[in-house]
Amino acid sequence: MQVRHLTLSNFRNYATADIALQPGVNVLVGPNGQGKTNLVEAIQYVSTLRSHRVAGYEALIRLGQPQAIVRLLARWQDRENLIEIELNRDSPNRARVNRADVSRVRDTVGYVTSVIFAPEDLRIIKEDPSDRRDFIDGLIVQSAPRFAAVFADYERVLKQRNTLLRSARAAKGNAGLSTLEAWDEQLVQYGSEIIAARVALVAKLEPLVHAAYAAIADEKNDPAIRVKSSILATAGFDDELDQSEYLTDSNRETVAEKFAAKLMAVRDRELDRGVTLIGPHRDDLVFTLGDLPAKGYISHGETWSYALALRLASVQLLRSETHTGDPILILDDVFAELDVTRRTRLAQLVADNEQVIITAAVAADIPVELAASMLHVRAGSVSISATGEANGEVRQ
Ligand SMILES: Nc1ncnc2c1ncn2[C@@H]1O[C@H](COP(=O)(O)OP(=O)(O)O)[C@@H](O)[C@H]1O
Ligand SMILES: [Mg+2]
Repeated sequence: MQVRHLTLSNFRNYATADIALQPGVNVLVGPNGQGKTNLVEAIQYVSTLRSHRVAGYEALIRLGQPQAIVRLLARWQDRENLIEIELNRDSPNRARVNRADVSRVRDTVGYVTSVIFAPEDLRIIKEDPSDRRDFIDGLIVQSAPRFAAVFADYERVLKQRNTLLRSARAAKGNAGLSTLEAWDEQLVQYGSEIIAARVALVAKLEPLVHAAYAAIADEKNDPAIRVKSSILATAGFDDELDQSEYLTDSNRETVAEKFAAKLMAVRDRELDRGVTLIGPHRDDLVFTLGDLPAKGYISHGETWSYALALRLASVQLLRSETHTGDPILILDDVFAELDVTRRTRLAQLVADNEQVIITAAVAADIPVELAASMLHVRAGSVSISATGEANGEVRQ
């Protein structure tokens, strides 16, 4: 699949932008802070309703403006879809698909698939469980868009259950416990669907990560991924989950049984703490390289290779799991960070993707194999390369 056209209005530092993109490799070049990442972030947002830089969407609306609009024309084979998303500061966001309103913004998910690799991805390896959950959940939603609703349902139930637990704690008694049971049931229903999907996806992803890592790095390697779940934890339901075990069974019923049983076991603690202590919102992925956990042990270079392998594996996974071929591959500001060997290997690995969008401060950092349509970005405006094709146009 490919982006044919991107139109922005009051998005980040763009008043307006109107850009045509080409199949194959597109390079966005310009000094730092000019708006390269903002452009690819807009594409990523339409495809996943998430940004790799911020939670929420308020930061995406141009400063001082009430509303941002992103309009993206995507093409897969001979089919075109126009997706429009309107982000509003003071009213609900809205979306349209092929000029018709959709009832929920999340109904746009699935029309555009993309994978972005950016320096922020080192967080997946090095930082918090939530970074790893975002990674795997984003991939679940892109490969099976109906999960957007499952995640929304789980969030809603979790919030309401937490409110109930808090008020039960405040009441210092058994007030509302019958209502709690109804919430338990829904928490287990949606939660087990999420947990089972994570286990299933990790099983598909792991061999792809293994192959991608071997293609990028020479070092001895053997990356493996495990799902560490709070529903198996034997003790300690704190953020670290250090007592929990690995989940390998992706059967939803078995997961639901384990979840429900554990929920009963931790009920007193939950009432004590006033918060939901187990569930997919408390789970983690454990990445290992050989015998070592990736987090806290592997080198900076290995961390880059690992993060890159995760994204390249994601491209392959989406290629085989969706009906829209290659996802749009975005490489945001990564070539400057890679050594020459990895740069060249990355170039070889991505050159055949249907569409690749690369950002770089300096064109010289991009391997010659990827020399392609060039767009120059400066101060929230985009212009065509002096030597390139007439493929961009901007009005400020
Ligand atoms: N909501 C916003 N409104 C106006 N300007 C913004 C907004 N968000 C970010 N910017 C500006 O966008 C610029 C950063 O753009 P970015 O795409 O990250 O640059 P780069 O070309 O280095 O990738 C900064 O100058 C920042 O101040
Ligand atoms: Mg950038």
